[in-house]
Amino acid sequence: MPNHYFSRLLLLFSCTILFASSVMSQGTTPSGISPANKARIDALMKSMTLDEKIGQLSLFTSDWDVTGPSLNGNYKKLIREGKVGAIFNAYTVDYVRNLQKIAVEESRLKIPLLFGYDVIHGHRTIFPIPLGEACSWNLAAIEHAERIAATEATAEGINWTFAPMVDIARDPRWGRVAEGAGEDTWLGCKIAAARVKGFQGNDYTTNNTLIACVKHFAAYGAAMAGRDYNTVDMSLLSLYEWYLPPYKAAVDAGVGSVMTSFNEIGGVPSTGNKWLLTDLLRNEWHFNGFVVTDYTSINEMLNHGIAGTIKDAARLALNAGVDMDMQGSTYLNSLDSLLKEKNITFSRIDDAVRVILEAKMKLGLFDDPFRYCSRERQEKDIMTPEALASARKMVSESCVLLKNEKNTLPIPASAKKIAVIGPLGDSKKDMLGNWSAAGNWEKCVTLLEGLKAKAGTGVEIFYEKGCNVNDDDRTGFDAALKLATKADFVILALGENGWMSGEASSRAHIDLPGVQNDLAEAVVKTGKPVAAVLFNGRPLAITRLSAAAPAILETWFGGTQAGNGISDVLFGDFNPSGKLTMTFPRTEGQIPVFYNAKNTGRPYQSSDPGAKYVSRYLDCPNDPLYPFGFGLSYTTFTYSGISAVVSGNKVTITAQVKNAGNRDGEEVVQLYVQDKVGSITRPVKELKGFQKVMIKKGESKSIMFNITTDDLAFYHPDLKKSWEPGEFVAYIGTSSAETLSAPFYIK
Ligand code: BGC
Repeated sequence: MPNHYFSRLLLLFSCTILFASSVMSQGTTPSGISPANKARIDALMKSMTLDEKIGQLSLFTSDWDVTGPSLNGNYKKLIREGKVGAIFNAYTVDYVRNLQKIAVEESRLKIPLLFGYDVIHGHRTIFPIPLGEACSWNLAAIEHAERIAATEATAEGINWTFAPMVDIARDPRWGRVAEGAGEDTWLGCKIAAARVKGFQGNDYTTNNTLIACVKHFAAYGAAMAGRDYNTVDMSLLSLYEWYLPPYKAAVDAGVGSVMTSFNEIGGVPSTGNKWLLTDLLRNEWHFNGFVVTDYTSINEMLNHGIAGTIKDAARLALNAGVDMDMQGSTYLNSLDSLLKEKNITFSRIDDAVRVILEAKMKLGLFDDPFRYCSRERQEKDIMTPEALASARKMVSESCVLLKNEKNTLPIPASAKKIAVIGPLGDSKKDMLGNWSAAGNWEKCVTLLEGLKAKAGTGVEIFYEKGCNVNDDDRTGFDAALKLATKADFVILALGENGWMSGEASSRAHIDLPGVQNDLAEAVVKTGKPVAAVLFNGRPLAITRLSAAAPAILETWFGGTQAGNGISDVLFGDFNPSGKLTMTFPRTEGQIPVFYNAKNTGRPYQSSDPGAKYVSRYLDCPNDPLYPFGFGLSYTTFTYSGISAVVSGNKVTITAQVKNAGNRDGEEVVQLYVQDKVGSITRPVKELKGFQKVMIKKGESKSIMFNITTDDLAFYHPDLKKSWEPGEFVAYIGTSSAETLSAPFYIK
């Protein structure tokens, strides 16, 4: 890359840092605080000792549930001493009430605690994993799912969730793809905003909303080689264009807190990265909530090799803009002496204390510290019929039909003996998936239970496990094959265990684990109609299964209502409409493979598949197994008549979509745009819009998208966004790979 590129960036950085320090010295005053409440906080801060201020900056796990290394056993004593600002992993009304009582009755200043928890896809009523929910492309339903999660969590004492996770990820080996919305930035922004709104509502004045925490800031999803916690290294342009926007969308939606990420960016761990946390987040994006570390990420800066001592790590973090230390005790143990040594300032501590007190004030905790401790709400607001119905519908909406040869699905009415075969067919524990908050696996509906509950009279359903998820034991094959031969229809329940995705769950091989492919192939050989139902927390490289099974339904981990929602789809009461938000590779060797890639100077041409000096593999096609945006329906949608009309700075793109099959169905109509020539090379296409529409059988709908030149803007080397006139191509279609196209020009 030319030298002038670096010098321009350096200049930009220095200017930003100068500007940042002048802004920071004036202090930050978050919005949403009335003058009267600001005066209350001012008065409180005047009466606080240094120790009490540092206490507000410290977050500890309770001994109720621990989600990482635990460094501090005696948190109750610390609460009493005013040395704790917040507690996480504590819920249920009585438990929370007791801890809050220590804070507001036994500590000197009686400052209430925040109670945080990983409410990631539901609290008690567990919804599908976030990657699954994203495949619904139903923003209103996603927002509503978080509304339910917030209602249940706040009914059990929680007022702060460590969600949404909005990390863009292009590497399915990384187990945490389960927690995000997939690979696309545009869609990721919409989902980030929907989730924040769902959790927080319009304000915090009701007692069924809580503070959201967008994480993991930033670019945690780009961990090298898909190995969790690994180094992130990318150009600033990629960071701005692809990875930062969803965090920004959450900030713009008013998110109350931000969690740092474990990874480094440009050689500096996020938790000690002043450019990221102060210059960008506070000063450019005007974030006015508080910043918390991810677990012990301050302490981990020693391992990163950017700090030699814990004290130095604490200095880096505070000065970078971290307000609250999760579980590391570093602020508690070091800020006092760092201050005496003048390595940090009083005003920086005050800024951090203020944003945390403001969060407590906004929640109303100073007026009623027990406002989230209502036994009555705990009784009536948990797992309501309405919540369970929403979860069931979301399971169906998250399902993606990947293959359906000869209309194998839905299960025909003629099938009177149905065999469920496979290790995930009746496994309650696996249905919740990772990060299942207070979800109770015993309350989950398995596929077998769901099918039995739904099957009509005269339909018998049998089950054989066949094999385990992840070992080479084939002793169950015989019984499984025997069952298959006496059935009219076979459902294979295959995939990963619930714990094989999520944090610290990277996999180098992402095909079906164990001997599941062998089992599937043997079952298919019986000649019976077979549909594979997949349970997994990431895209899988299921080339073998895809060649063998006539039908494949991707269901992720559906949560509490998994079996019911999937059965609705399998029996045809719900016509599947989910579309992948993350590409399924053919093999790990293609990773990263994502739809919005660049063309390169030597693109592969399908018209000349054997060409030598082009960008391709010798031993594998370039294209993935199932592309972004892909998902079938029980009906067929045909697209025709695309047009793109420019008027001033507006472009109207229209196409006709016909339901050419014989049942009603919903289709996610997708709009992509390619900028043919840019001063910075542009991807082959970028998602710019979608509409999820119900089209009745035989009906045609005209689907219209309006975009403006703002939607065509991209980042330039000065890290400013603008669009460039010239030639574009609009694509409308059923997936990123199957589209109609229409060129347009803008002067
Ligand atoms: C995870 C976070 C989570 C935190 C608290 C960390 O290990 O990375 O996503 O919010 O633990 O449980």
